[in-house]
Amino acid sequence: MTPRQATPPRAQPSRQAKPLTAPAVRARKGSGPPLVMVTAYDAPGARIADEAGVDIILVGDSVAMVVLGYDDTLQVTVDDMAHHVAAVARGQQRALIVGDLPWMSYHVSVEETVRNAAALVRAGAQAVKLEGGRKRLPMVRGIVDAEIPVMGHIGLTPQSVHAMGGFKVQGRQADAARALVDDAIALAAEGCFAIVLEGVPDEVARLVTEAVPVPTIGIGAGPWCDGQVLVFHDLLGLEDRVLPKFVRRYASLKADAVDAIAAFADDVRAGRFPGEDETYHLTDDVLRALTGDGTNGALTGDRAIGALAGDGAIGAHGAEPRTA
Ligand code: KIV
Repeated sequence: MTPRQATPPRAQPSRQAKPLTAPAVRARKGSGPPLVMVTAYDAPGARIADEAGVDIILVGDSVAMVVLGYDDTLQVTVDDMAHHVAAVARGQQRALIVGDLPWMSYHVSVEETVRNAAALVRAGAQAVKLEGGRKRLPMVRGIVDAEIPVMGHIGLTPQSVHAMGGFKVQGRQADAARALVDDAIALAAEGCFAIVLEGVPDEVARLVTEAVPVPTIGIGAGPWCDGQVLVFHDLLGLEDRVLPKFVRRYASLKADAVDAIAAFADDVRAGRFPGEDETYHLTDDVLRALTGDGTNGALTGDRAIGALAGDGAIGAHGAEPRTA
């Protein structure tokens, strides 16, 4: 087996490609280029990912941390996730949309799990993802029986942050590594169409990948997986406070955004914005009528400005441009 990233995939223009399905993702085990998954949480993010030609968009519960400002992923609910899935679904055209089941949405009963998975599908997801190994098998079976494709997620499972004692690499000892292989085999046998491997040594990821008949998608799991996933904000440098070892930044959008907004602020304060190109004007006729050519009771001076401002369509900030 060679590392799946040995021949890096080139993004294909999404407009020419057919929508990807869960069975098509499952069929990529052992064939085709490595799978590419990124997270997205809103319509513009989904359009960017889709146009870049990714295979799968994961509406991850990482939204809690990278968008909503929480310290972990435990704070988001099914309603929160459905809100973001719906936004992504409105922006996406080709990539498979996977909705992340949040903490406690699949822990209580199979019935509740299926209902919550269905809520994400109704919001626009074409598959769901849940964290955990063999103890989740009844939930996986329930979701599969409801005809909803399920993606597994083992290794560093962020929803277990308190049980794990922090966000720590998993499977470092032989027993733990074997348990991960057994978990993956069981999840695949129960019907998962793909499995995320997060935060595990590459040797363990390789063992898992070779042991299961479904694609593994790695994050912090080395090159031996059948695909790779990164979080949108990490990949694009929108998040610049932490840089985990496994992240590669392909852009510095946070820095670019700060520069852009600072330039806007400078322009406003210096009277350079808006300029002529960014300004609406009345036609000469209307202007004459307003500013006093003697017909139709035209208004002049301050009265004209007051009338303009009063229609609510333009600001009421006085006659002089704020260019000082
Ligand atoms: O929520 C998420 O972003 C994830 C990925 C890290 C796989 O689960």
